[in-house]
Amino acid sequence: MEVARDRTALSRQALSRPWRLAIADGLVREDASLFDYGCGKGDDLRLLMAQGLVANGWDPNHRPDTELRPSAVVNLGYVINVIEAPAERAETLQSAWKLAGRLLIVAARMTGEERDLAQRTRLADGILTSRNTFQKFYEQQELKHWIEKVLGAEAIAAGPGIFYVFRDADAGEAYRSAKTRRRIAAPSLTLSEQRCREHPALVDGLIRFYTERARLPEPDELAESEVIARVFGSIKRAFQAILRTNAEVDWGQIIAARREDLLLYLALSRFERGMRWSKLSEPLRRDVRALFGTYAAAQRQAEALLLQLGQPGAVDAAVSAATVGKTTPTAIYVHLSALEQLPLLLRAFAGCGHGYLGAVEGATLIKIYRREPKLSYLAYPDFDRDPHPALDFSFNIDLRELRLKRRWFKGQPNPPVLHRKECFVAEGYPRRATFARLTKAEEAAGLLEATDRIGLRRGWEAVLNENGFTLAGHRLIRVPQTGVSASPTKAT
Ligand SMILES: C[S@@+](CC[C@H](N)C(=O)[O-])C[C@H]1O[C@@H](n2cnc3c(N)ncnc32)[C@H](O)[C@@H]1O
Repeated sequence: MEVARDRTALSRQALSRPWRLAIADGLVREDASLFDYGCGKGDDLRLLMAQGLVANGWDPNHRPDTELRPSAVVNLGYVINVIEAPAERAETLQSAWKLAGRLLIVAARMTGEERDLAQRTRLADGILTSRNTFQKFYEQQELKHWIEKVLGAEAIAAGPGIFYVFRDADAGEAYRSAKTRRRIAAPSLTLSEQRCREHPALVDGLIRFYTERARLPEPDELAESEVIARVFGSIKRAFQAILRTNAEVDWGQIIAARREDLLLYLALSRFERGMRWSKLSEPLRRDVRALFGTYAAAQRQAEALLLQLGQPGAVDAAVSAATVGKTTPTAIYVHLSALEQLPLLLRAFAGCGHGYLGAVEGATLIKIYRREPKLSYLAYPDFDRDPHPALDFSFNIDLRELRLKRRWFKGQPNPPVLHRKECFVAEGYPRRATFARLTKAEEAAGLLEATDRIGLRRGWEAVLNENGFTLAGHRLIRVPQTGVSASPTKAT
């Protein structure tokens, strides 16, 4: 009996994960042509077009008559895993790659997901389901290596089971380095010097460039270079004028932050394809020269960082030195929005996880172990709204074994819950003060003392109950004695 490939196509109400990720990563520009290779029933196409994007798609079973069109971005989403013949899988990947002008997205189902399928028998390197469809489940590294072997191009992890292959290696590098760069708001400046005041747009452009790269632009890197040179004499002079009029800005901090970002990028690149100078794009070479003097010096520091990662006690010490995140005797937990504020070594540790798995959609916290090469992504979908959010799922990565373990808690009656939410986020996080106020009230009421009981939802609810409290949003309320109405405790 033939395998029923056509039956694998789902109806989708929301965009599939690969398209969502590529859009979130800024890789789908409004004017770009998009192509969905193996588009199934075409729901992604409909949803992309509803966003005003130009999308086409082909599917041998559901849309066989569409023309196979070369396009800027091509998605091969959950197709290779339904093909039972390995040779045909490779041909399909190559055909999709041929169409991709700028970017190919490849997504496949992952080991662990087969548990969702009832009744199955083994077939080739996958399984035959009760619906007579074939499914092959991939390990993250297996998928990466296979794509790279078939296409001879680097596959960059974008998320679990999802990889990007860029046509132009520089674009891939730009994508990866952007992922290791923190966001720094350009300083808002008071411009006193005459020319600065007369040409705010020129000055702004220069400041923005400097904030981005912590160095001055070469003439070909800034559209306004020529005008700046005409007005101020040179770019250097323009910047000196900016420095003179803005002595209060900590420019050194910008340089230190960007040096760290670049070092992190160079260190993490070693895992991908070495750190050959010839592989660096011209802007990055300029960054290296400006921030490290020579490439050899940058390499030495990147290597030292990696070596340090493997030193016993180094991660543990970095966890103890962290000024953000909640530390326990075995690990540190940090909200993903605060990751950039961790010590460099921990960012490198987290970067290894990202290089392996890409972004984990829905993840809220990252957990870095002090004494084991392990980290976890933890998803708390109601982190902001729920005073004690429940864990939805966790992805646990063993970086030495390159193994991934997933655990699902969604829908379970007694999932782990969080306390002291303000500890996970950085200053400036919305409602951090509200989280902290609740913690204070809970501490004052003695509710956080029974640490062995409050980690799971039922235990926590029992502790609240036994002490005569309930919660209304982020307010702790004493449950009224009969005849008395509920009132917030003093500390809320
Ligand atoms: C699980 S569906 C995925 C559909 C769509 N990409 C999505 O994510 O919703 C797999 C699709 O791959 C298609 N397919 C099977 N063999 C193929 C091949 N050799 N080339 C392209 N598509 C193929 C099937 O017809 C099916 O629609």
